[in-house]
Amino acid sequence: MPPRQPTRPTFGWDNLTGGHEAGLPAVDDLPHTRLLTSGRAALFAAMQALGVQPGDTVLAPSYHCPTLVAPLRAAGATVQFYPLDAEGLPQLDGLTPAPGTRALVVAQLFGLPRSLAAARAWCDAHGVALVEDCAHSFFGQAGERPVGHWGDLATASLSKFFPVSEGGLLASANALPAQPLRAAGAKGQLKAWVDLLERSSEQGRLTGLNTPLRALFRMKNGPPRPPASGVASQPLRPMTEPEAMADCDLARSEQAPPALTRWLSRLPRERIVARRRAHFAQLHRLTASLPGAHPLFGALPERAAPYVMPLWVDRPEPVYAALREAGCAVFRWDRVWPGTPTFDGDHGALWRNHVLQLLCHQDLTEAQIAHTGALLAQHLTP
Ligand SMILES: Cc1ncc(COP(=O)(O)O)c(C=O)c1O
Repeated sequence: MPPRQPTRPTFGWDNLTGGHEAGLPAVDDLPHTRLLTSGRAALFAAMQALGVQPGDTVLAPSYHCPTLVAPLRAAGATVQFYPLDAEGLPQLDGLTPAPGTRALVVAQLFGLPRSLAAARAWCDAHGVALVEDCAHSFFGQAGERPVGHWGDLATASLSKFFPVSEGGLLASANALPAQPLRAAGAKGQLKAWVDLLERSSEQGRLTGLNTPLRALFRMKNGPPRPPASGVASQPLRPMTEPEAMADCDLARSEQAPPALTRWLSRLPRERIVARRRAHFAQLHRLTASLPGAHPLFGALPERAAPYVMPLWVDRPEPVYAALREAGCAVFRWDRVWPGTPTFDGDHGALWRNHVLQLLCHQDLTEAQIAHTGALLAQHLTP
């Protein structure tokens, strides 16, 4: 069985090649930036920068990863969920913000950033701050503005775009308030290097060093354990809020990232964008005429560096379980925050079940993408 596909970028020598410029706007073009340990740490820092306190309300999308919601709750906010339209944008008509609403968090989903003109106007009319969550969209043009430029604050998750073991970014057009961060420490600095070498050698990304490094890590960790089979097809048990909070692990939210994160986030960017676009196009082509499934959106916009190729599947359970069992790089946002209400006409609620997020990052190979495509065809053909 082939090794599990990496769900995030993994360092290899080829990361050092190609042009330095992405050729697209990026969240870190904003004049004020702060590096943190994760996207969730950046959302927590955004809440702190806005002075969110217990009793305040923050609006968040019904379609989410729990790590989007946990930092809002950690800041003490009451989270009010809103439904999404067919583009993944907030359905704000008829939304009355509770008194004490401080922020609207909008996710630029899938690495296909959209204009947030309507959300920006709504926030201005209601005196609410806009937090543009760019965890999926580090690069790109979001309609009339570059990505990250709609929000009063923008947040990003570096580990989805760069081969870092941890990294997040808080960014803004305006100066950021000071935030005390604990230093990573010598142990944290060393661990970042060890994690990088371990993941890279596991994936065979360090030609010339893979075999000795793997032998070294085998001595340290013991023989690799086979992945538990059948786990992917077990139904998810709903979590309580304390379980969801614990699962999101916010422990390192107030810590500075290791120096390696800064270095890796400055690697040449041309390759990152080009390969993501090529992988997206490959997945789009492979899934364009499958029975019972179709790419959620049309062709890739010109000024985007996708995070995933979202695939709508009419009967997702068997095929999702098969992809997970086979170790394909795929996610589904089926883990919903406890207490998320249902709304009429909410596309987010449908996507939770029907949309498979097929990863397309730069360090996957064309053969891995083709393998995912072949499994989809095999399991979707009646
Ligand atoms: C939309 C969105 N926001 C925030 C996060 C949190 O990012 P991180 O995993 O870097 O904490 C994620 C992670 O999946 C995400 O998808």
